[in-house]
Amino acid sequence: MRIAVLRETVDAECRVAATPETVKKFIALGATVAVEAGAGTGANIADALYAEAGAIIGPREQILAEADLVAAVQGPAVADLPGIRPGTVLAAVLSPFADRARVDGYAAAGIDALAMELMPRITRAQSMDVLSSQSNLSGYKSVIDAAEAYGRAFPMMMTAAGTISAARVFVMGVGVAGLQAIATARRLGALVSATDVRAATREQIESLGAKAIFVADVKGIEGEGTGGYATEMSDEYKAAQAALVSSHIAKQDIVVTTALIPGRPAPRLISDEQIATMRPGSVIVDLAVESGGNVEGSVPGSVVMRHGVKVIGHRNVPSRLAADASALYSRNVYNFIAAFWDKDAGKTAWPADDEIVKGVTLTRGGAVVHERLLG
Ligand code: NAI
Repeated sequence: MRIAVLRETVDAECRVAATPETVKKFIALGATVAVEAGAGTGANIADALYAEAGAIIGPREQILAEADLVAAVQGPAVADLPGIRPGTVLAAVLSPFADRARVDGYAAAGIDALAMELMPRITRAQSMDVLSSQSNLSGYKSVIDAAEAYGRAFPMMMTAAGTISAARVFVMGVGVAGLQAIATARRLGALVSATDVRAATREQIESLGAKAIFVADVKGIEGEGTGGYATEMSDEYKAAQAALVSSHIAKQDIVVTTALIPGRPAPRLISDEQIATMRPGSVIVDLAVESGGNVEGSVPGSVVMRHGVKVIGHRNVPSRLAADASALYSRNVYNFIAAFWDKDAGKTAWPADDEIVKGVTLTRGGAVVHERLLG
């Protein structure tokens, strides 16, 4: 069975779906691996390193011609898969709800498309969970980006010339990214507070040494829906949250927002009026900017000034740490493929009734089959 690894074509995507380490592991399983020339450039992995690991290096058409499974970071359009054979499996982040036409294209071409980001959040799939591996790095990088843009230091420093006070960092949304943002800001010496709609996060916030800021005495406070994800909150809750945030945010130097609700636009957590209450020189990082934004006025791919506050809206934050993001993504892909490797047959088998397979399969045998894309 041949696994082909593509060079990413989306603008500013520096990650790659396999590393020399995972190439070796695939070969140890019994697969052959073909890597598109230049695939690792953005992550500082030279073609020679893939070749040393045992991969064939070649142009796209050549590596696709004999591929049984194609691994990528971002889902390519069918037009960018010249010569791909019907029945080939494609494993990548496929964003089916944002680009349905591309998914229909996979079905028409007979490609069995597996969306890595739809991996169910169950224990068995933890090592294959690309949302977690990439969000963790985004959370870290959001604080580093904020520190870089902030004209002051993070830790308290007592010097002969006087004392510098610690930066105050507020993290809104404490999922995987938010937890890492809290941990990173704490390591840099900031005074950290955080909030979420899911009551379960209070203990996690406190265990990282941060202060939990929570809306109290409002109906529907649990905020937790299926799979541990947040739900849309009531108007009463939203009003209480806005009042709480208004009084807290004016005292913050850095705010990192990470709040997402599956299948919906990101909740608006900070208004322009609230930004205006912050001290000039403060920094806001909106990690949800590509999903509609948590912050009024944040712009995808830009840093904008609002009332003297820098509002950072970088796109594709994991790609800004391409080497680590690729290493983790590649291991997720390897763990996924290895879990469905049939040793005797020397190839993968994807049982349609398996919870993981069902969760990620968008198209199969020429048809769109994912339940969230039907009807
Ligand atoms: P996410 O990226 O969907 O959302 C980020 C955070 O924003 C969440 O904590 C959410 O509760 C919060 N949020 C949403 N609306 C908000 C609002 N209006 N105000 C404040 N905060 C708001 O979340 P992520 O990081 O994907 O994690 C979701 C859940 O999945 C968590 O419970 C996490 O522990 C769980 N998880 C489970 C895994 C497993 O069992 N394999 C792996 C990774 C995460």
